Amino acid sequence: PTKQDLLGQHWVITAGPTMEAIDPVRFISNHSSGKMGYALAAAAQARGAKVTLVSGPTQLDAPQGVQRIAIKSAGDMLAACRDAMSKPADVFIGAAAVADFRMKEVASQKMKKTGDSDEMQLTLVKNPDVIATLSQEKAAKCMVGFAAETQDVIAYAKSKLERKGLDLIIANDVSRSDIGFNNDDNQVTVLSKDQQWTPPKGAKSALAKELVELIIQYQSTQS
Ligand code: PMT
Repeated sequence: PTKQDLLGQHWVITAGPTMEAIDPVRFISNHSSGKMGYALAAAAQARGAKVTLVSGPTQLDAPQGVQRIAIKSAGDMLAACRDAMSKPADVFIGAAAVADFRMKEVASQKMKKTGDSDEMQLTLVKNPDVIATLSQEKAAKCMVGFAAETQDVIAYAKSKLERKGLDLIIANDVSRSDIGFNNDDNQVTVLSKDQQWTPPKGAKSALAKELVELIIQYQSTQS
């Protein structure tokens, strides 16, 4: 049996894509399947944590014993996370692929092909940065982000760690077709301010257990 060393802890985990409406029938989104975040939720729950999974639209069933809150947009995600952490959580993990931009104005009716122009322009505005905002608000004692990068993976991840005020960042090379978005397998490098770990490549379920263990170890060196 898995040791129950997270009893009494509350972990809040985001997963999946966000969906930003363009009009009543169209949206902006990305290739996240939710598998990584759901695997993390299952792994933390298995060790006894109370887990809230704030999830964008996915095909997955909520892991047993995990409370799932379904959201669509980045704005909804931030609101649901704040709600879940009105009392600070122990750990927050941002595994979701959050859209950086949304429509400046969502069209209330289906947009039509007008005139004879072959071009179409959409005006987008920046979304809130969910994890950076929560980190500023000290929503959880330990803030863990992901960094999905296609080049200079470690350097970009390091700058996100600092810029978003995180304790740990999990660098994910999403240029590779054998890992990352929508795969069953993944490989990552975990970074803190002054340390670096590379757990073995493997199924997201196995990797999630390693990552939960790593976060627990990190927590124990911080208090
Ligand atoms: O869902 P899967 O198919 O299993 O794929 C897993 C994954 C590749 C989506 C996952 O491992 C991963 O890398 N998730 C982060 C994706 C991402 O959007 O990374 P980013 O580098 O753009 O964002 C950095 C961090 O800031 C992330 O923790 C992200 O959740 C967060 N963020 C980003 C933008 C924003 N507006 N708000 C945020 O909170």
